[in-house]
Amino acid sequence: MVLLRCPHGCKSNLQLAAQNEKHGRVETGQICCDGCGTVYPILGGIARMLPKHLHAQQETPEQEAEIRLKLIEMAARDAQVEDYDNMTHLALFGKLEIPFTLRQLNLRPTDVLLEGGCGTGRMTQIFARKCKSIVAIDFSIESLLSCRQKLDRLGIHNVDLIQADICALPTHDEQFHKVVSCGVVEHVPTPESRAEMIAELARTALPGSKLVISAYKHSFYTRLFGKKEGEHSGGIYFLRFHHRELHTLLSTHLHVELISGLLVYYFTARCAKPRHPRKHKA
Ligand SMILES: C[S@@+](CC[C@H](N)C(=O)[O-])C[C@H]1O[C@@H](n2cnc3c(N)ncnc32)[C@H](O)[C@@H]1O
Ligand SMILES: [Zn+2]
Repeated sequence: MVLLRCPHGCKSNLQLAAQNEKHGRVETGQICCDGCGTVYPILGGIARMLPKHLHAQQETPEQEAEIRLKLIEMAARDAQVEDYDNMTHLALFGKLEIPFTLRQLNLRPTDVLLEGGCGTGRMTQIFARKCKSIVAIDFSIESLLSCRQKLDRLGIHNVDLIQADICALPTHDEQFHKVVSCGVVEHVPTPESRAEMIAELARTALPGSKLVISAYKHSFYTRLFGKKEGEHSGGIYFLRFHHRELHTLLSTHLHVELISGLLVYYFTARCAKPRHPRKHKA
């Protein structure tokens, strides 16, 4: 609870009212905001902390379009949980991707990790065995429920799952020793929301900490056979990045140490949060 804050404008501390617990984790209960009074339910061991603006009237047509795309993806991810876990190319790709990600992240047993966009927990279960604890967020509740089932089956109890928007994290500033987000930023639908996502991940990381962020790469292969920007099944938005484009996005808040395109289809970036605040580029 000490890591969490209200994801709404008030950013206040929260109070926990537990109704029942399992494995030292609240299974059912409520989280109440000291500032604005919003009550966030905890059901099935998952805190439901989506910001209200996802369901509110937006001020501009651009914001309307962004929220519409997010809601489309949330519904599509909820509907595609089983398909995601059965993707054979992802299972094969993971054999290279996961060790590479682990090497960049260099988790230690004392690390508290934030995983942004954990999905069905493909990587969460692996991270969990290498660090002290994880706060893993995603906006797809069905993906989180599937992740929770996997973790319970494996007897992994050091992961807190939260339904949240990666662009409005319910976490205080400077909390996490490491931050990871794999395959998420390419689905965040506008330049403004991608900038918000990176700002949020950077905000919540400890000064000097490492962040590993992977994203679709617009490679020679996708130039021949695919589009730079488009939709997957169910209307899930995607953008494939050029190296410079990803570098520019990340370096607004972070020091980019490495962007590796070794995995052909993906870039994996290792960044560090500067130890001292710096002036953000426009
Ligand atoms: C391609 S999946 C990757 C899942 C996981 N990181 C993995 O590597 O298997 C992208 C995930 O990001 C989540 N996601 C996309 N946009 C999000 C947002 N704005 N807030 C929270 N989660 C988001 C989706 O629900 C989905 O689970
Ligand atoms: Zn509040």
